[in-house]
Amino acid sequence: MVDSIDSNDGIFRTQNLNLYYGENRAVKDVSISFKKKEVTAIIGPSGCGKSTLLRTLNRMNDFIDIFSTKGEIFFQGEDIYRSSQDVADLRKRVGMVFQRPNPFLKSIYKNIVWGPQIHGTKKDLDELVESSLRKAGLWDEVKDRLNDLATNLSGGQQQRLCIARTIAMKPEVILMDEPCSALDPRSTARIEDLIGELRKDYTIVIVTHNMQQAARISDKTAFFYEGELVEFGDTKSLFTKPKEKRTEDYITGRFG
Ligand SMILES: Nc1ncnc2c1ncn2[C@@H]1O[C@H](COP(=O)(O)OP(=O)(O)OP(=O)(O)O)[C@@H](O)[C@H]1O
Ligand SMILES: [Mg+2]
Repeated sequence: MVDSIDSNDGIFRTQNLNLYYGENRAVKDVSISFKKKEVTAIIGPSGCGKSTLLRTLNRMNDFIDIFSTKGEIFFQGEDIYRSSQDVADLRKRVGMVFQRPNPFLKSIYKNIVWGPQIHGTKKDLDELVESSLRKAGLWDEVKDRLNDLATNLSGGQQQRLCIARTIAMKPEVILMDEPCSALDPRSTARIEDLIGELRKDYTIVIVTHNMQQAARISDKTAFFYEGELVEFGDTKSLFTKPKEKRTEDYITGRFG
């Protein structure tokens, strides 16, 4: 059923991973592997644990008191919950883009350089700002207003800025939690095009409610239901020849 569960070549790999909020087990015994420089889409009905799994990959859930894990998560072969894990370093290497664009209340320029400066970058900052904005497909629109407040950009531009801000940290993986759900169709199309570009350089794991979007942009798709990984495989086969009845019911809109 799960085609790459046993392979060790994933940049991320979970093994019998269980994620809890207090007593509530939100993710149940999940073993999955995300391959380098692939786009993996995570789909499933509301509350099935998509964001919980995603936020665990860079230990964002550490901020929630009642959160706990059982099982293992390996990033580049190393358990991210081992005591010697440098969490700041993990979050630098595994960046995240959220559902609502969340630029800092600072200039466009400062949004990009803030993280790298904290991490003591020695890079030429002007060059970093330009290259990050170019990669995020935003440079031409903002190059003459880099000192304007980022919050004055449109929603779609803010989301591309957040992607640029993530890229500026030179991550290996970009996690995206419904990055287009607050955007109009045109901005959504731009972000999808951008993901098409970014896949050349980064591993991307994206949670989406939009099945057409998952089908368009991802190499692999994982379907979750009530915390369980029901089916995982090549996006094309999962959408055209699902192996599990629950997957078929979900992708044909019978529930969810
Ligand atoms: N901070 C939290 N504290 C307690 N329970 C939580 C917390 N966040 C999520 N949960 C619970 O964990 C389960 C999975 O939630 P999660 O947010 O991962 O779902 P999701 O698949 O991302 O849903 P959606 O599509 O609505 O975003 C749900 O039962 C939810 O109520
Ligand atoms: Mg969610």
